[in-house]
Amino acid sequence: MQAITVERLGGPEELRIGERPTPEPGPGEIRVDVSVAGVNFMDTGTRRLGTAVGPVPFVPGVEGAGQVSALGEGVTGFRVGDRVAWVYAYGSYAEQLALPAASAVPVPDGVSDEVAASVMMQGITAHHFVTEAAPVEPGQVTLVHAAAGGVGQKLTQLIKARGGTVIGVASTPEKAELARRIGADHVVVSTGDAFVEPVLELTGGEGVHTVFEGGGETTFRASMRVVRRNGTLLYYGVLIGSVPVVTITELPNSIKICYPTFFDHIPTREALLRHSAEIFDLVQDGRLQVEIGGRYPLKDAARAHRDIESRATTGKLLLLP
Ligand SMILES: NC(=O)c1ccc[n+]([C@@H]2O[C@H](COP(=O)([O-])OP(=O)(O)OC[C@H]3O[C@@H](n4cnc5c(N)ncnc54)[C@H](OP(=O)(O)O)[C@@H]3O)[C@@H](O)[C@H]2O)c1
Repeated sequence: MQAITVERLGGPEELRIGERPTPEPGPGEIRVDVSVAGVNFMDTGTRRLGTAVGPVPFVPGVEGAGQVSALGEGVTGFRVGDRVAWVYAYGSYAEQLALPAASAVPVPDGVSDEVAASVMMQGITAHHFVTEAAPVEPGQVTLVHAAAGGVGQKLTQLIKARGGTVIGVASTPEKAELARRIGADHVVVSTGDAFVEPVLELTGGEGVHTVFEGGGETTFRASMRVVRRNGTLLYYGVLIGSVPVVTITELPNSIKICYPTFFDHIPTREALLRHSAEIFDLVQDGRLQVEIGGRYPLKDAARAHRDIESRATTGKLLLLP
């Protein structure tokens, strides 16, 4: 089977396609034929810095959808032929993958493989942010950085579904238009700190209840200036620039800073099943729409990484093995 392999950490050119043996599922694992693999910004980080699970060489990618093609010993709850999606299973940039059955979820008939693969990382992440990390209440005003991006589009729609107002930030007028189309109430075209004045103006000088800061270090300090008294700055833009450093006494207006990590939303299999089912429901009733910003053959994984790092993409990028 074909897979992308990273033999040496570095730039997109290190993503090379080649032949690998068909993976055999071990105890508690299933093998899937991958129809779609999701590209996430974090994949650019593992390509440069390595994975949390082992040294080079490795097959990158942690997310996808496809069909179960073999069951390992002791697996219950899945049959060969079932359609499944998964997240945090390394090795997803491949035609086939063996992964823990506990990481896979069933995909309902009304959800395509492309859409399922698109929401496992970015959808569950956005769901975590607005339901548990910084719960959005009806009437609250929020600021969403990179609102036309992968996580940004999902955040915008989930906040709207909870009755919040979204001020989006996007770096170009074209991205701003897209953010408006998916539901942002206002969009500020900004790079750096240019969003501060417009956001204060839009909120009568008070600032927003919550900033969803996916813009990385560059916008972090400016974001602190637009959080209203007792509000929250939720930071998740890791890998975009370096991680911001703040001293606790610098925090203005009694604001709270939060750095949510993915696994705190799915600490158990039961939580993974529940949250993914909720997201599939939102997709099926039209409250969460998925924009596919780019489809690439597996061999073009390097081009997908160049594109996401170039800041030119919107929505979700997918590899189609
Ligand atoms: N904490 C978690 O659990 C978690 C989970 C998933 C993702 N993440 C993080 O969320 C962020 C977004 O991930 P994603 O996969 O959804 O990517 P994405 O939003 O599709 O792409 C990143 C966006 O960030 C903005 N950006 C600002 N400065 C940039 C730069 N120097 N280079 C590239 N883009 C820049 C761009 O939007 P504009 O051009 O409009 O500014 C770009 O569209 C990443 O930092 C990722 O690591 C965290």
